[in-house]
Amino acid sequence: MRKILVTGGLGFIGSTTVVSLIENGYEPIIVDNLSNSKEMVIDRIKQITGKEVPLYIIDVCDEENLRTVFAKHHPEGVIHFAGLKAVGESVEKPLSYYENNLLSTLTLLKVMKEFDCRNIVFSSSATVYGIPQRVPLYESDPVNHATNPYGETKVMIEHILMDTQDAWPELNVAILRYFNPIGAHPSGLMGEDPNGIPNNLMPYITQVAIGKREYLRVWGNDYPTPDGTGVRDYIHVVDLANGHVATLKKLDTNPGVVIYNLGTGKGTSVLEMITAFEKATGKKVPYQICPRRAGDVAENYANCDKAYNELGWKAQYDIVDACRDSWNWQSKNPNGYNK
Ligand code: NAD
Ligand code: UFG
Repeated sequence: MRKILVTGGLGFIGSTTVVSLIENGYEPIIVDNLSNSKEMVIDRIKQITGKEVPLYIIDVCDEENLRTVFAKHHPEGVIHFAGLKAVGESVEKPLSYYENNLLSTLTLLKVMKEFDCRNIVFSSSATVYGIPQRVPLYESDPVNHATNPYGETKVMIEHILMDTQDAWPELNVAILRYFNPIGAHPSGLMGEDPNGIPNNLMPYITQVAIGKREYLRVWGNDYPTPDGTGVRDYIHVVDLANGHVATLKKLDTNPGVVIYNLGTGKGTSVLEMITAFEKATGKKVPYQICPRRAGDVAENYANCDKAYNELGWKAQYDIVDACRDSWNWQSKNPNGYNK
């Protein structure tokens, strides 16, 4: 497999993965509708890799346009990053989330079948485990109702992919359940560029450090965790990107459906993250303890043995590396891709 269609390839994880694909000899082709990204990302990819990547500004839900891309490039595999991902927004606009995330996947699978494209890697999420009954989370743990419409789209798409593979056994499906992606490309040329006030911890911290926000609100310090703050499994986006390359190699062995957690296997609390950031960057992060945020779980981290045993992949970077790279990106691009 060489030619890989990357949906949502201008986004945070997609763009970093495109770089890893190129570094590993793949030929990515990007489709993205710019709903949460900027066209200049393609220039950054070129700056890092020296390669011109074909880019189509189209919606994956648009069957005709998607067909044109398949007819031109005949990709052998697809990595499907395209989707809406803001948990809070999904509660306010459930129909947009169901429409975009489900319809893009259905359209993609339909066109893949038409062109006999037999490999798909899907961006799922730890959110499919719902409220964890125990940690660490294993791939065999029950996939529960997610706690919000965004998460439900991931649960539903996992089912759609498995049903499709049942009916089309030549199809290879890799479901990757990401834990909490942070960090940025070490060049400082690509990173996370949230719209408005960030919901996620790391972009909020970097915006406090650069002076855009006064202080971090720590959502609760009364959880049953060592220091009372929420614990998550933060994975460097470059590690995550490399996990996709390892997964494509696995798909070359025609495994049918495979599911992997992509995390580090290690939990980090909010206060530990603040300390790691201060250590990595020398910047102070003022914070205030606030009440718990609705819908948050106390603790969530992965067991990643399956990915290591079957893909030979494990995370190489730690949270101090990720803090350094997030800060490198934020300080070189104070307004993200808006200059
Ligand atoms: P992102 O928003 O940066 O990237 C998604 C990209 O998809 C954007 O460039 C957007 O413009 C594009 N897109 C959305 N809908 C589209 C459509 N219909 N047609 C074409 N392009 C479309 O998000 P990300 O953080 O890079 O996440 C990538 C994937 O990983 C998403 O599916 C997300 O749900 C999943 N995921 C992300 C996280 C996270 O914390 N970042 C965690 C778990 C899973
Ligand atoms: N947190 C704060 N202050 C903030 C932001 C976050 O204290 O300003 C805390 C949260 O309470 C939580 C931790 O930092 O304890 C991480 O929060 P994030 O919002 O960064 O990440 P979540 O684990 O809540 O959510 C992420 C993704 C979701 C995905 C979920 C489960 O953003 O898309 O993981 O996989 F659904």
